Amino acid sequence: MKKESASARASAGKAGLRTVATIVAVVMAVAFAYAIIRYNVIKGVPWQELPLFISNKAVALAAVFFIALSYDFGPLARFWPKVFVPELSTRKFFGLLGFGLAAVHASVSLLLFSPAYYPKFFTQAGKLNLTGELSMLFGVLAFAIFSIIAITSFPAVEKSLSNKQWQMLQRIGYLAFFMVMLHVLAMGFEGWLKPAGWPGGLLPISLVAFIAIALTLLIRAAVIIFPGNRNMPKK
Ligand code: HEM
Repeated sequence: MKKESASARASAGKAGLRTVATIVAVVMAVAFAYAIIRYNVIKGVPWQELPLFISNKAVALAAVFFIALSYDFGPLARFWPKVFVPELSTRKFFGLLGFGLAAVHASVSLLLFSPAYYPKFFTQAGKLNLTGELSMLFGVLAFAIFSIIAITSFPAVEKSLSNKQWQMLQRIGYLAFFMVMLHVLAMGFEGWLKPAGWPGGLLPISLVAFIAIALTLLIRAAVIIFPGNRNMPKK
């Protein structure tokens, strides 16, 4: 969800529409193919659950990938400017696309939220257990923080913020991404420790998301430790 000043746009150059469309198509195709192969094809989840239950997993994974892309391009451009500088202008688009998909995921999850779909979140009495309470708490917190950052991309809000304020707000996005890590850790951890139960040996989607976020946070840490080329457009 990066702010693009005119000068930053000029120096960053514009990624072609074709490149952006290709990245979007590839990420969506990979996320849906992974969810469908793991759950419908190998695990045998009925196809009637594809429209919402299984698609919701793909949408959640795609949201994580797009938000990760929006955060990774900046740090990567410091080390490989030729490859990644042209992509800097796409950060805001990928961030907002990821946020939009996270909103779809949250809405669909709430539509389906019941012991019949998600038995691991509920007690026998039909209340949330600790896994359900913690996992949903972190999901809601992450979504709330991402909402604040998304609001800063409204032109009127963007204009009213100083560069420093705007950059500080962007950085709390890393905190929101960390909350998503806790969201998937709380719900998935038990299953991660039992690889024998993974359909077709495929990693749980919660673990794939956890790894993608961990990599993003590591890349950010690497930039703090080894700043590389500091003359990159910040916005
Ligand atoms: C109000 C906010 C949220 C709610 C109510 C919510 C709800 C849920 C639920 C019920 C699941 C279990 C899905 C399943 O096992 O099929 C889930 C999984 C997941 N959520 Fe969220 N979530 C929220 C926010 C977020 C956000 C902001 C992200 C990422 C940007 C996210 C990413 C994920 C991922 C990657 C999974 C793992 C899917 C899987 O293992 O199949 N969630 N969420």
